[in-house]
Amino acid sequence: MRVTEGGVDLEVPAEQTEGVEASVFYNPRQELNRDLTIATLRAYREREPRAESYLDAMTASGARGVRAAADGWEVSCCDRNPKAVELAQENLERNDCAATVVRRDANAVMHESRFDVIDLDPYGTPMPFADAAFANCRHLVCVTATDTAPLCGAHFQSGIRSYSAVPRNTDYHAEMGVRILLSALARTAARYDVGVTPLLTHASSHYVRTYLELEERATAADAALEELGYLSHCEDCLYREAQSGLIAEPLETCPDCGSDRLLVAGPVWLGAVRDRAFVDAVREQVTEEFGTAEKARELLETLAAELDEPTHYDQHKLCKRWGLPANAMDAFLADLREAGYDASRTHYGGTTFKTDASVGEIRDATEANLTD
Ligand SMILES: C[S@@+](CC[C@H](N)C(=O)[O-])C[C@H]1O[C@@H](n2cnc3c(N)ncnc32)[C@H](O)[C@@H]1O
Ligand SMILES: [Zn+2]
Repeated sequence: MRVTEGGVDLEVPAEQTEGVEASVFYNPRQELNRDLTIATLRAYREREPRAESYLDAMTASGARGVRAAADGWEVSCCDRNPKAVELAQENLERNDCAATVVRRDANAVMHESRFDVIDLDPYGTPMPFADAAFANCRHLVCVTATDTAPLCGAHFQSGIRSYSAVPRNTDYHAEMGVRILLSALARTAARYDVGVTPLLTHASSHYVRTYLELEERATAADAALEELGYLSHCEDCLYREAQSGLIAEPLETCPDCGSDRLLVAGPVWLGAVRDRAFVDAVREQVTEEFGTAEKARELLETLAAELDEPTHYDQHKLCKRWGLPANAMDAFLADLREAGYDASRTHYGGTTFKTDASVGEIRDATEANLTD
């Protein structure tokens, strides 16, 4: 099957057969991910002009590598599947793009050569590739994780095994996944005296994607570890509290309702998951040949405005729980701001928001506006 994506022509398998590795993998639903990758690479090149080489470490059909090469990057494509390597080579030639294509294990390639940018896009968890990436990348590591059930605590033991952290299944699943993933990546990078700064992170349809800028300095690694901590969550009243540090001091009872049904997750990344100015710069680089241009711009706009609070709420779920009528999002957020709190939408869903108000204060503000 022939597809055009971001101005390049790609031959890709028509559909997946049983067993994901049976044929070369191409997921049309990841077009937004790939469009954002290209926009991010463009914005990153302006931020770090020394960045020239890009390793598409799990290339499959070559979709990312071809698009990056068409955009002027010095590209290497790697896959361990011989059919993938053949197809990636053909797709490069079809678009008159030059790149090195190798059939290897991605970890071996990363340990043998250094790259300015490394892109990890495996099936499931990226953690088996994180050590080699942080040990050998110069500037930017891009990571996709599709194992959202382990990341958010729905597959609890699997999450603990993959991420050396305790994820908890809460209402803010996708954000739990983001913060568990960033925590594990920051701790992995720290082992190589590398500090990470998330420039852009988003959770979209069943995957988490993050772009981490690296700084090779022990103090930078220490600074990244300072962003880690624990989240306590009351299952009864939805109270939450974040505590910094690598030693957990879990709450025993909820300070709001007295319940002992507390979930504690961590270590999670409590810091910002994106750099606002960089997200704006990425939005500038979204161009009309992107099939997902409109969606990408909307996502980036929401991300740039999102508050840094480590968890979010869903207005509809809260109102249902409290037996209160839900309001239009803009009016609801305006009410919170009028009551003196910060409030923003989030990219996790149309009725989700972040605020520095506690759950009790959100309820008070919601009720006050009913009686107005
Ligand atoms: C999700 S697909 C990549 C999709 C592609 N990046 C895209 O955007 O269309 C994952 C690929 O990783 C490859 N892969 C899995 N483990 C690998 C390893 N250890 N080394 C190299 N490639 C690997 C698989 O063969 C598969 O082609
Ligand atoms: Zn409570």
